[in-house]
Amino acid sequence: MTDGAVHLEAIDLDQLAAKLGMPIYAYSSAAIVESYRSFATAVGEDVSICFAVKANGNLTILTQLAKLGCGMDIVSGGELERALAAGVSPLRIIFSGVGKTREEITQALDAGIHQFNVESASELDLIADVATGRSVRAPVALRVNPDVDALTHDKISTGRKGDKFGIDLDHAYELYARAAATASLNPVGLAVHIGSQIMDLEPYRRAYTRIAKLAQQLRAGGYPVRRLDLGGGLGISYGHATPPSLDSYASVIRDTVGGLCAELAVEPGRRLIGEAGILLAQVLHIKPTHDADIVVIDAAMNDLARPALYGSLHPVTMLRPRPGPARPCRIVGPVCESADAFGLYTHLPALLPGDRIAFLYAGAYGAAMASTYNARPLVPEVLVDGSRYAIIRRRQTVAEMMALEADPRWRDMKLSDRSDLGAISA
Ligand SMILES: Cc1ncc(COP(=O)(O)O)c(C=O)c1O
Repeated sequence: MTDGAVHLEAIDLDQLAAKLGMPIYAYSSAAIVESYRSFATAVGEDVSICFAVKANGNLTILTQLAKLGCGMDIVSGGELERALAAGVSPLRIIFSGVGKTREEITQALDAGIHQFNVESASELDLIADVATGRSVRAPVALRVNPDVDALTHDKISTGRKGDKFGIDLDHAYELYARAAATASLNPVGLAVHIGSQIMDLEPYRRAYTRIAKLAQQLRAGGYPVRRLDLGGGLGISYGHATPPSLDSYASVIRDTVGGLCAELAVEPGRRLIGEAGILLAQVLHIKPTHDADIVVIDAAMNDLARPALYGSLHPVTMLRPRPGPARPCRIVGPVCESADAFGLYTHLPALLPGDRIAFLYAGAYGAAMASTYNARPLVPEVLVDGSRYAIIRRRQTVAEMMALEADPRWRDMKLSDRSDLGAISA
């Protein structure tokens, strides 16, 4: 733009931040549509896309994706409620996750979801038990741990032997046979998800090849394997690396499982929403040190946890870029933890209190992972569409946070008193 201002679609972000206050998440509606359409075009209409709600569960974003034809991958009863509230058909919902409770399984069976991705023998038994009690057959796929290193951050690797996710490849056949012999279960296929922010396609190739082999063995044994859920995990650039192209990812799918005549699904999260969102923040204080300025901003690890959790570095831009020699700075938040640091930046001019900045690529695992640590309210989210914007989550108030707390009515509370049990969720 000629005035040097940074825009999201046609909105001047500096003006938006000044008007709405900070910290605040902003998303581009056009970018969401574009990333969904590119993904759908690359994998083809035979592959059903189920957005991983955990990456960003905002209702407006889920609704927008649902309207584009996207299904959802959920990992909790709360995410199920969100997906249904966003208008997603239960027939497009897959329930993943390693620790589903009896209540969540009941909720999902009653909703009539498409598929449970089962992660252990114990969970399979629990689903069978709940389904028996409700006189239904639960559609189950076994999520297999293929023992493949996704070559990503240790804390988002999920497909290595010993990781808590999935059923050991060696036990999957036997467990599938058990599911097939259980009246209340309908084994529909296999699932795999080896991790997140994956930048190399070879681990996918290895994992999918192992799943394909298992599917063939099961079929040879007389067990129908109609569906294959290939998980999510495809990485994005974060400004410093080139992620695999969607077309090359689609080729891996075709090469490995394309010939199996199975219904295919994928569960991307980050790749659909990561690049569409940014976090806007304001500089509060500058503390010069021997090697870099410490720049204290009003956003913190509770608003954007990825740097503290994984050492991730989100590119930063000033909303009104200013010429000047670059001055190294460490951007930190106000939370009382040394982990509340966004990283070292060497490309920015000397920042000043009042400067407004944006962390880029913050659409996935940003607002979704936010907490209220240090009694900091959850920050607002804004959706931009051309020159319009809408607040799609307003700023939480401290009063709302405190409203969940209550005086301990010691004299009233006894384990034998049933009337108090309901108070936990009331
Ligand atoms: C089961 C499952 N599916 C899909 C995803 C989405 O991963 P990503 O956002 O990296 O695509 C995750 C997140 O790790 C997951 O646990």
